[in-house]
Amino acid sequence: MSSRPLSEIGLIEGITTTRAIRRYTDEPVSDQDLAAILFAATRAPSGSNRQPWRFMVLRDDPTSREAKRLLGDVAVRIWELKRRRDGYDQGSGRRADSPKSRMAGVMQSFAEHLASAPVVILPCYLRYREPSHFEGASIFPCCQNLLLAARARGLGGVMTGFQAGCEAELHALLGIPDEIVISAAIPIGHPRGSHGPVRRRPLEEFVYESHWGQTPAWAVDPPGTRHTSAGPPGHRARLEGEPTR
Ligand SMILES: Cc1cc2nc3c(=O)[nH]c(=O)nc-3n(C[C@H](O)[C@H](O)[C@H](O)COP(=O)(O)O)c2cc1C
Repeated sequence: MSSRPLSEIGLIEGITTTRAIRRYTDEPVSDQDLAAILFAATRAPSGSNRQPWRFMVLRDDPTSREAKRLLGDVAVRIWELKRRRDGYDQGSGRRADSPKSRMAGVMQSFAEHLASAPVVILPCYLRYREPSHFEGASIFPCCQNLLLAARARGLGGVMTGFQAGCEAELHALLGIPDEIVISAAIPIGHPRGSHGPVRRRPLEEFVYESHWGQTPAWAVDPPGTRHTSAGPPGHRARLEGEPTR
């Protein structure tokens, strides 16, 4: 699928095959690719069309390298905690060929190599009123546009929250004003490996009609859809009393 000419990939196929890409080749990301994916990012919707986004692009100059190093250090720290907390080395994680071990290997290498990702983009949110749970709605759609456009250009990336662990340092280093929120850190590069069908839980577990817990008969996945569990081991994926299938 990922070897097909990109021009043949339709919108829905692009959406359903854009994976989190955490391993990159050393090939630089061109100015043209960056312009194209940031153009797509900035076509996202926002409240009152305020377009309250800015994008800090970190590539290979000394300041950017330092910013990427800060993010990489956070990634290593967070992954160490998560590896222990979510039991990545327990159970099937003890078998080198298990999906859990493979995921742990990818995450370890991702954290260790984040500082050398070809590009890291920091989507920044220009806060114009008191923080609210809804403000993400005017910044995160552009992040997904960005990832989809990267996929369309043969690139890949992943949404991360590593900026939260070094936000003050990034503000100081990059000269970002106080009223700007750094909303994410998105590494982008040419994938080592490939995109492919994303796996989620079945649609019937997510959709209710008319009443909470009432799954409509039409909420079915396309034939052949493969599924995966939600969240890390031990995570509560459903509310008490929600239907299980
Ligand atoms: C809000 C948010 C935060 C995320 N934070 C991280 C992160 O800090 N580190 C990371 O490696 N991936 C992070 N991800 C990526 C998710 O792990 C990934 O999107 C999810 O596992 C689905 O991957 P898939 O599309 O390849 O199936 C984040 C995704 C979102 C939407």
